[in-house]
Amino acid sequence: MYRDHWAKKAKLDGFRSRAVYKIIEIDQKVDLFKNVFNILDIGSAPGGWSEYVSKKCPQNNIFAIDLLDMKPVKNVSFFKADIREIDKLKPILGKKGSFDLVISDLAPNITGIGAIDDEAIYEYNTLTLEVALKYSNNKSKFLVKTFQNSNLRKFKSFMEKNFTLVQNFKPLASKAQSSEIYLYGENQ
Ligand SMILES: C[S@@+](CC[C@H](N)C(=O)[O-])C[C@H]1O[C@@H](n2cnc3c(N)ncnc32)[C@H](O)[C@@H]1O
Repeated sequence: MYRDHWAKKAKLDGFRSRAVYKIIEIDQKVDLFKNVFNILDIGSAPGGWSEYVSKKCPQNNIFAIDLLDMKPVKNVSFFKADIREIDKLKPILGKKGSFDLVISDLAPNITGIGAIDDEAIYEYNTLTLEVALKYSNNKSKFLVKTFQNSNLRKFKSFMEKNFTLVQNFKPLASKAQSSEIYLYGENQ
């Protein structure tokens, strides 16, 4: 029994998570993979986004990181690691400064206490943006999960300092009752 339409659709379409439809919708709007070769998927497990990227870009270099294990995805080099430890992952370190696209679906554990969660989300978002900036080239694109909360304006202005175009997305597959949104930045 699937909890919702998107989980059922993911099963039927052969994807391992409903999260895939979020990146599909955003890709249809911004053409995420145009002129992209090196891709980093942060917080990748169970692998819905990685599967989509692999199908869309079979010739590209795709790296994925998660704290949890992830079953292999064709063409994706997966590392079980904390994003805070990325500098220790030699194959990724070797590509520092050359990523064209960084996608992050990371989310901290939510406590339900607004002030604590807002800070944890902001900390994760800034950490991920810093990793993206460090590992990307200057034409790179960045997609990141965040939440509508008291720190969103602050994080969005951090994005705007680093990308010429920053857009918000609330994909249909994102639960309506969730404050989850995605920010996308690119340099035009
Ligand atoms: C919403 S899930 C990602 C779903 C994925 N995009 C997909 O399509 O299947 C968020 C992931 O972030 C991972 N995560 C959370 N904190 C992390 C950290 N510090 N380093 C690496 N991964 C982390 C979690 O283990 C979890 O698998």
